[in-house]
Amino acid sequence: MNARDPAQRRTASLQAADAAHFLHPFTDFKALAQKGVRVIERGDNIYLWDSEGQRLLDAMSGLWCVNLGYGQQALVDAATHQLQTLPFYNAFFQTATVPAIELAQVLAQVTPPPFQHVFFSGSGSEGNDTVVRMVRRYWSVLGQPQRQVIIGRTNGYHGSTVAGASLGGMAGMHAQGGLPIPGIEHIEQPYWWLHGRPHGLSPDAFGLQAAGWLEKRILALGPENVAAFIGEPVQGAGGVIVPPATYWPEVQRICQKYGVLLVSDEVICGFGRTGQWFGCETLGYQPDLMTFAKGVTSGYIPLGGVMVADRVARVLIDQGGEFNHGYTYSGHPVACAVALANIALLQELKVVEHVRNDVGPYLAQCFAALQDHPLVGDTQSLGLMAALLLVKDKNRGTPFGDDVDIGMACRQHCFSNGLIMRAVGDRMIIAPPLVITRAQIDEMMALIRRCLDLTLADAQRSGWLN
Ligand SMILES: Cc1ncc(COP(=O)(O)O)c(C=O)c1O
Repeated sequence: MNARDPAQRRTASLQAADAAHFLHPFTDFKALAQKGVRVIERGDNIYLWDSEGQRLLDAMSGLWCVNLGYGQQALVDAATHQLQTLPFYNAFFQTATVPAIELAQVLAQVTPPPFQHVFFSGSGSEGNDTVVRMVRRYWSVLGQPQRQVIIGRTNGYHGSTVAGASLGGMAGMHAQGGLPIPGIEHIEQPYWWLHGRPHGLSPDAFGLQAAGWLEKRILALGPENVAAFIGEPVQGAGGVIVPPATYWPEVQRICQKYGVLLVSDEVICGFGRTGQWFGCETLGYQPDLMTFAKGVTSGYIPLGGVMVADRVARVLIDQGGEFNHGYTYSGHPVACAVALANIALLQELKVVEHVRNDVGPYLAQCFAALQDHPLVGDTQSLGLMAALLLVKDKNRGTPFGDDVDIGMACRQHCFSNGLIMRAVGDRMIIAPPLVITRAQIDEMMALIRRCLDLTLADAQRSGWLN
């Protein structure tokens, strides 16, 4: 550090305070305290600036959420107006606020037709807690209280509360705190490259096989005991794993056959990410419940919830009596006001169409072209989410061993070169703001190529390719 540089001095003092007091999510506290946190100070459009003035192209939309990009004044104005008018009132005691009612109505319009009702939460994890409570309540109102089991998937992510982490299938999360809770089961993920390709299956054949694992598990548990199946349309935190086209329609058929509720966790895929308003529309299935969060407000303020299809809502409304569940911030008026402004802007700027017809197909083309790079064994993309797989030997499809953290090496180069890209094991993933332009995609791809070349040089120098 240059002790006379005021920006560096300020960063050092923020880092010291951070290390002394701030326990970060999903972080090795000790390692971060030793390294020093990177402080992000400002954002505009798809760019961020850190406390030392370095500009970063944010190819992860914050955390899959800043879909309209940074600096949208309409969202700031909506929050300011609502804070001045009524900063808070709850929805518990037969009361509601104007933005919460209006947002419920707008959500019924932008979601597929069976969804006419919403239950608000403060986040995606809380939304999935609501899913657990709601599907079990639904079956008990229908006189089938033994239908308790919810089936999720290995390497799925549904949040970090006790219920969310249980529904998810992240081994590292289950290992801490005695998870999953009883009544949650997992089947293998529909990851063709890992589970289908080595057995010579085509993606379509593998998609049917992977959906068949659901049927096997339902039969093993007894269909009369299974309440619901939950999955992300495209696994996000698991590494942007786009399932084969055959997967979801077959999952839907199986759920219908056994009367199992189908839950689509749209926390990442919702609000345009895949080129339709919701991921289930892109992937061709009709869920009974949909969890949402993140993109509903472009991450400007926390808000989540569960859309409830009529099949479920009518039972809860007509026969359910009181549902003993809710959060202080269910339908927070400021969050709902920001969501209304966010959805209005998505519509006005035709952002979903921009993803579907323009930048989504362009990104797919650019990512497919990366397959010429010696380190890239596979690429996948859908709408504005994409992944590339780093491999040791692309001809044989040999992965790097556990002793080499190739993803982290690549990620370090990205940060140093002004690009925020995430590493999930050996998969490098992106989900840029939906307002990104073709020219900005070109800029992003040039950075990605530069970082891949630097990572390749590391690998050659360190003997990781031998
Ligand atoms: C699919 C999915 N569900 C749920 C969550 C949890 O949302 P939150 O972090 O808002 O609780 C996430 C977060 O990334 C997610 O990707």
